[in-house]
Amino acid sequence: MADRIQALVALDSGVDSNYVQSLLPSGESFEVVGIINGLDESWRTLQETAPDLLLVVCSGYSDRTLYFIDSAVKAAPERPIVVLTTGSPNGFVRRVFESGADDILTLPDSSDQISFALEKAIARRRGAAVASGIALAPMICVLGPKGGTGKTLISSNLTVALAAAGHKSLLVDLDLQFGDVGLSLGLRPDKTIYDLARSSGSLDSEKLEAYLMRHASGARILLAPTRPDQASVVTVDFLRDLFTTLRTMSDYVIVDTPPGFTPEVIAAIDTSSHVCMVGMLDALSLKNTKLGLETLELMAYNPERIALVLNRADSRVGITGEDVEAIIGRVPDILIPSDRLIPLSVNEGEPIVLAEERSGAARSFRALAEMYIEAKDELEPAAVTAAAAAAAAPAPERAKRRFARRA
Ligand SMILES: Nc1ncnc2c1ncn2[C@@H]1O[C@H](COP(=O)(O)OP(=O)(O)O)[C@@H](O)[C@H]1O
Ligand SMILES: [Mg+2]
Repeated sequence: MADRIQALVALDSGVDSNYVQSLLPSGESFEVVGIINGLDESWRTLQETAPDLLLVVCSGYSDRTLYFIDSAVKAAPERPIVVLTTGSPNGFVRRVFESGADDILTLPDSSDQISFALEKAIARRRGAAVASGIALAPMICVLGPKGGTGKTLISSNLTVALAAAGHKSLLVDLDLQFGDVGLSLGLRPDKTIYDLARSSGSLDSEKLEAYLMRHASGARILLAPTRPDQASVVTVDFLRDLFTTLRTMSDYVIVDTPPGFTPEVIAAIDTSSHVCMVGMLDALSLKNTKLGLETLELMAYNPERIALVLNRADSRVGITGEDVEAIIGRVPDILIPSDRLIPLSVNEGEPIVLAEERSGAARSFRALAEMYIEAKDELEPAAVTAAAAAAAAPAPERAKRRFARRA
């Protein structure tokens, strides 16, 4: 973006102003037009400076910050608000979006990353998609509220089903501590995302290729670290670069995630063009799935680009299709049956779409792949590019109708 961003910075008490300023972007593109200390008596400053954007900094969960955001939104609903927190955002992310903020980042993020978030918040508010100029492949982020929901099962089978249908597909295991994509696909972790993150030099496709493991189906996989303590090497900054480069190297990029909205997962959602939300057929899981969908809504994720997949959907647990619709507020796009062949195939390291082609589960995974193939065919290349830069960009009418028909 060519325009200089004029930001007003509001610091919650206890936040070190010098520290924050050392992390903010500098130069042509960013200017701090005022600093509010303590979040009190700030309304005059807000009115006098009329910034493009409000940057609120706190150190973890803070009711004062939530109240401040809420009031700032009421005062100027069109002005974007980005929150930086120096402490853990756990339990805070949802509240921050609910209060009306556009984004939340955990410090220390690099100033590039902060710049990116600020530009994106402004672009979203202006309804503009920041076109990157390259047609990027769809990136499907597979999300689910809890462990054991079937995220890994679905992401690995979707990836393999796309490959089997003749498309170049690439899977990233973003469950950085306990990733098990390698096991479920029977791959040896010769190289993992840990090795890639530790390697020196810039990320280009030629270099990246050397870190991708190849599955028999033709799919390429970037595996999770082999030990939990290696996860911290993988930064959000690195991931943003990584996802963009991977999207230039394949027809589809699929991302398997750990449970919850961790900073890495948020970065993946932000960069993605589609979300595949996985739920299971019990009241607790459905409630969490609904919370997940609401969080995406608060993040202004385009609802046309969210698919709902219900796993273990034939369980006789006393929940009907109508119950699901009543709890979640929408009909699932794909149902995956419970099948005892699934744990068998996981243990063998052979995905069920290949191991038991004729099973109901395999058919479901092919239907899921087909849904994304159709969605991609119907997106103009330009629209795919725009989606890369702003997931909130509106889907073309035809694709919208297609998803509406499914729903
Ligand atoms: N539809 C299903 N039928 C039978 N077993 C399933 C089904 N879905 C998942 N499982 C089993 O549950 C376990 C957890 O699934 P997984 O995909 O690893 O969940 P997540 O990645 O969400 O933690 C898998 O090992 C698999 O064997
Ligand atoms: Mg998993």
